[in-house]
Amino acid sequence: WGTLGHTTVAIIAQQLVDKKTASLAQHLLNDTSSNYLAHIATWADSYRKEPEGEFSSPLHYIDALDQPPKSCNVDYERDCPEEGCIVSAIANYTSRVQAKSHKISLVERQKALKWIVHFIGDIHQPLHVENLEIGGNLINVTFDGKAANLHHIWDTEIPEKLIGGYALEDSTRWATTLVGEIKNGSYAHYSKKWLRGIDKHDSIETAMVWARDSNSYVCSTVVPDGADAVRDHELGGAYYDKAIPVVQLQVAKAGYRLAAWLNIIATGKTGLG
Ligand code: ADE
Ligand code: ZN
Ligand code: ZN
Repeated sequence: WGTLGHTTVAIIAQQLVDKKTASLAQHLLNDTSSNYLAHIATWADSYRKEPEGEFSSPLHYIDALDQPPKSCNVDYERDCPEEGCIVSAIANYTSRVQAKSHKISLVERQKALKWIVHFIGDIHQPLHVENLEIGGNLINVTFDGKAANLHHIWDTEIPEKLIGGYALEDSTRWATTLVGEIKNGSYAHYSKKWLRGIDKHDSIETAMVWARDSNSYVCSTVVPDGADAVRDHELGGAYYDKAIPVVQLQVAKAGYRLAAWLNIIATGKTGLG
């Protein structure tokens, strides 16, 4: 996702975590404001562009090698390479943020938390769990008449067309709407089910449950008929209309699951209050 998506995921989580989780995160991040997660949600995207952060670039996605329209799935052994992927990164940084301070410094634990907040966002973007032409980056399309690529419209153009901007106030408005849907709106009946498959003793399998969920939308919605069915097409109309419910759902799930995962890290308790 772009700034709007990541910040919205972070604000949803801020609104749902336990008090104890909030205190721990505020302490680790050295930020006692109410937007302590929103403030660091896009740090990982700046860091990957710096020379010292280059190693972290492949950790933003998992290149699922099985591709639509033939079939569609993600497999940890096959798709997560030696140098790591988003699934191994979520597991690795989860154990690092929990490590005792004599083993891992506060600075490293702080980085680990920033990565978790970002990667739980990215794993919910279907094209971060797919390698159809580098996550759709090489599939050129137009969006409301402007040249773009498929990856970028899912990260940025589609969410921004819906919300109208990417400022903190835009994210706050979107997050508040989605939390309303989670608590007593159209997602209320499903949201508890979004925590299915979470296993605090197996963070690889937990992240794989989220990855499989995300990857399923590549086949159903992102490119149901393969890359050539969207290549060089205008996607700001009917395609946008079909994408919007999936974008909203995936951002809502990401925020909800992030809150649950942070609660587990901080308190060991599964479930959201
Ligand atoms: N680079 C390679 N695969 C990618 C993906 N799925 N998403 C983003 N960047 C990538
Ligand atoms: Zn992206
Ligand atoms: Zn990212």
